[in-house]
Amino acid sequence: MRPISLVVALSSLASAALNTAVRADTFTNPVVYEDFADNDVSKGPDGLFYFSASNMHFSPGAPILRSADLVNWEMIGHSVPTLNFGDNYNLNGGVAYRGGTWASTMRYRESDKTWYWIGCVNFYHSFVYTASSASGPWTQSAEIPTCYYDCGLHIDDDDTMYVVHGNTNVNMAQLSANGLSEVRTEQLFHYPTEAQGIEGNRMYKRNGIYYILNDDGGTQSTFIYKSTSPWGPWTYKRLQANTPGPLPGGGTPHQGSLIEASPDDWYFMSFTWDYPNGRIPVLAPITWGDDDFPILTTVNGKWGATYPSPLPTVETPPWTGTDSFNGTLLGPQWEWNHNPDTSKYSVDNGVTLSAATVTDDLYKARNTLTHRVHGEHPIATIVLDFSNMADGDRCGLAAFRDWTAYIGVVRSGDTYSVVMQEGLTQNSTDWSTVSTGTTVETTAVEKGRIWLRSSMDSRGDGSKLVTFQYSTDGTSFVDLGDAYTMNTDWAIFMGYRWGIFNHATTALGGSVLLESFTQT
Ligand SMILES: *[C@@H]1O[C@H](CO)[C@@H](O)[C@H](O)[C@H]1NC(C)=O
Ligand SMILES: *[C@@H]1O[C@H](CO)[C@@H](O)[C@H](O)[C@H]1NC(C)=O
Repeated sequence: MRPISLVVALSSLASAALNTAVRADTFTNPVVYEDFADNDVSKGPDGLFYFSASNMHFSPGAPILRSADLVNWEMIGHSVPTLNFGDNYNLNGGVAYRGGTWASTMRYRESDKTWYWIGCVNFYHSFVYTASSASGPWTQSAEIPTCYYDCGLHIDDDDTMYVVHGNTNVNMAQLSANGLSEVRTEQLFHYPTEAQGIEGNRMYKRNGIYYILNDDGGTQSTFIYKSTSPWGPWTYKRLQANTPGPLPGGGTPHQGSLIEASPDDWYFMSFTWDYPNGRIPVLAPITWGDDDFPILTTVNGKWGATYPSPLPTVETPPWTGTDSFNGTLLGPQWEWNHNPDTSKYSVDNGVTLSAATVTDDLYKARNTLTHRVHGEHPIATIVLDFSNMADGDRCGLAAFRDWTAYIGVVRSGDTYSVVMQEGLTQNSTDWSTVSTGTTVETTAVEKGRIWLRSSMDSRGDGSKLVTFQYSTDGTSFVDLGDAYTMNTDWAIFMGYRWGIFNHATTALGGSVLLESFTQT
């Protein structure tokens, strides 16, 4: 993603920087203008903060971000290397849109120097993945035959592992000493009378008191429970209800994590629902009342657009820039739509995408490489060498979600055309494909190299339009097709992504070379 010289390990920077860095006076929300939902943020053994997020049907699953200051973040890896939860996760015999990883938990356990990630998959069983370093490698260590819905792991001072989970009813599970099975479970409480449900469970301990943080999307509320025992009795307060979020087009942040930034200085990391972009992390300080319940710090009754910085600033590499795919590995910013066919791509100073599926349906094609859109007005440009396409192949750059549009190249016989295709849509009940889209405009191009570009307004209160351009020299870009209106419905949960694809419609055998990706 970034020039090598900038990719300095944050952990080595952190200790030096903490001594010398100047604390920026304030930070601005969102802390990352990208789709990182359902965060579980906690401190690692190195004193840095680790942020686990959901990415549903994208693979690898459960992205991890890291920060020294809660404001500057970088992606470092994933807890779930492969979505091995059924062949539909390989786009074989079905699809797994909106499956995969969601509302899971990740914590470090000091006693065995191990990171644990726990999440319910397919509303069925929960999986435990472990690693000695958050950046991996991670391995699947256990399957627990209970769905820990929206779970939060807490490792107590005596090393006991608790998992709080559930909607409607909140339950407490105690895990075995090795953390890989359940030894006790109890229902703790039903959702509060002023709510319509409850989820997003997280568990903490402060000054010997246990806390459960959770939320209700129906009333846009956040609740906080406390008790002197993990088994209760629990009393609660509403942390907030319907507090306007910091982005004009975004909803009320209500789900998230409590974080102790420095001794007894606490923050709430939540996220605002801001489609087409996605669910975007936002941060606010909290204080504690005399009753030992937390209080959200608001500005004139709303989330602050800015607040005082929690900690000295430690910069991370920029989120935008050019990826020339140096070396032979993809950076953690890249996630595939479902599990990739690893025999059909290679990275070597560029990404060779061999057609992996014969289909006329992009939603069923394997090996679509995706990247989150960044910021309010993201623009992506890819350089593609399509000389090796087979007859019938389609490749391109998509604004990819359950309503999709793209600019691409198609080969028909010895004719190559650039096309703008829109209205590829999915049924948001069963994720079947409703339409493979219609071609709005097409023009012939010479076989060779092409620059494909897409520009979008990703703001929740913006135009929600995405447009497409191409160039044959990398300098002058030509508009193709029309402006496509993106979907802001939440049903698929994930926000829009850039999707880079190559699939066959006749026979496998062709490939394209993705030379670079630039996002500004
Ligand atoms: C790595 O990528 C950067 C940015 O795209 C580029 O400037 C640099 O030359 C590349 N380095 C190598 C060794 O390929
Ligand atoms: C979507 O799928 C559901 C469940 O299979 C079906 O009942 C419904 O008719 C479908 N809707 C459309 C628009 O195809």
